[in-house]
Amino acid sequence: MISIRDVSKSFDGGRSYAVANLSLEVAQGETLVLLGASGCGKTTTLKLINRLVPLTSGRVLVDDRDINQQGLLELRRSIGYVFQDIGLFPHMSVLDNAAIVPRLLGWDRAKRRERAEQLLQLVGLAPSEYASRRPRQLSGGQQQRVGIARALASDPKHLLMDEPFGALDAVTRDQLQGELIRIKQTLGKTIVFVTHDLFEAIRLGDRIAVMNEGRIEQVGAKDELLNHPATPFVEELFSHATRQAALLEPGARA
Ligand SMILES: Nc1ncnc2c1ncn2[C@@H]1O[C@H](COP(=O)(O)OP(=O)(O)OP(=O)(O)O)[C@@H](O)[C@H]1O
Ligand SMILES: [Mg+2]
Repeated sequence: MISIRDVSKSFDGGRSYAVANLSLEVAQGETLVLLGASGCGKTTTLKLINRLVPLTSGRVLVDDRDINQQGLLELRRSIGYVFQDIGLFPHMSVLDNAAIVPRLLGWDRAKRRERAEQLLQLVGLAPSEYASRRPRQLSGGQQQRVGIARALASDPKHLLMDEPFGALDAVTRDQLQGELIRIKQTLGKTIVFVTHDLFEAIRLGDRIAVMNEGRIEQVGAKDELLNHPATPFVEELFSHATRQAALLEPGARA
């Protein structure tokens, strides 16, 4: 349902590439995780999909249609986007922040409100307590939840999520990962989820695309990557994680 075909992106006229010859297919209802270190091109890849960044070359199809041959509003309506830096409007209430897309789409006030309240509830923020607060009156994790509610507000078919739990402590992150799994099961969205955390990738991804310096090293289910790493980079990534996990074994020593 999201098809990325030999896509490249250069920000400097071709001297270097943030994303290079990247191809990926994401099926309807699938969660695909883009996993990689800082600067490897994860955010750029997400932004290419909904035209926040224009392609240098290649094609992207969403629901079998070239993204450059559909209206921008129509494209963005079919794709919810959770930004890496959250980006809530500080002067607006939590409810109004969650209802921004419905407002852009011209929904009437009562319908906007009902939808925003429903979504705040879905992400675990009781509207009676949180709807009228300003973003600065929320914790970081609560703000991230509002960002997720906002991305879901117009019921998009697809969801792009850029390190949505990146800034959270381990316990809150674990809780929100569980909630995302529940939301995914309830709503059946196609999700492209960006993270640099292998354990998060394993928990959330139906498949994982390992990225390195703008390229994909390997795409597959976690068992494939673990048991049949295609490159030394993927092998090293998993062996590093295996060593980390071993520290949790009883009696393990660093
Ligand atoms: N607007 C831009 N102008 C110029 N260079 C950019 C721009 N956006 C990204 N880049 C460069 O492209 C490369 C990939 O950046 P990107 O933001 O996609 O990385 P990332 O994988 O999301 O990293 P992080 O995990 O730190 O968020 C980096 O070298 C970055 O400096
Ligand atoms: Mg990024």
